[in-house]
Amino acid sequence: MQKTHLPRIVVLISGKGSNLQSFIDAVQMRVIEGEIVAVISNNPGVLGLERAEKAGIPTQVINHRDFADRESFDAALAEVVESHRPNLVLLAGFMRILTPAFVEQFEGRMMNIHPSLLPNYPGLHTHQRALDAGDSIAGATVHFVTHELDGGPAIIRAEVPILADDDAATLAERVFEQEHLIYPLAVRWFCQGRLALINNRACMFGRPLPPTGHPFSTVARER
Ligand code: GAR
Repeated sequence: MQKTHLPRIVVLISGKGSNLQSFIDAVQMRVIEGEIVAVISNNPGVLGLERAEKAGIPTQVINHRDFADRESFDAALAEVVESHRPNLVLLAGFMRILTPAFVEQFEGRMMNIHPSLLPNYPGLHTHQRALDAGDSIAGATVHFVTHELDGGPAIIRAEVPILADDDAATLAERVFEQEHLIYPLAVRWFCQGRLALINNRACMFGRPLPPTGHPFSTVARER
């Protein structure tokens, strides 16, 4: 297949970009049959931008501090993202709340990953909150982006045990390992045309997935 026919992917980041790296690796290994056409960060000088540059992917910084309000930042961001004609927009540690206008523009072609078993713990400090609550499992969820913060129809989730001596950092490390497996897998499915948002549900081959997403433990074998 010619490169230009591959689904076009734009990745939005704010920081270290380890999820971005998992996409870069999956594209290189053809696990994801798509092309990352741009990486955009709202923060300058972050490691994720270096990762993209090293992989030869065009980068751009749109610094939210240069804008008077959320609406004008999102309008500028939307214009740049749309200029890349994306089939898929991936939020990968993009730590900005998006306006309804932005979300609507990219609805059905925008995903996010969140480091919790949604709907538990949207927002920040997920691992500390899971520890404070005395939970025995934690995890990560990939979902289509809707108006809900860290919500929206779930695609896939992975669970990890919380161990007795865990702190937020050790738990985050264990969850990251799973993030780097499930997010590329969801992207692979989307690029293959197997996964879509239909009537506000994440669907595989047109059939709705469970409300909390496909359990990764059950799909590991078919990767
Ligand atoms: C990841 O843990 C991701 O799940 C989380 O930010 C981290 C980014 O890491 N996202 C959210 O909390 C979204 N609300 P990365 O920059 O190394 O991919």
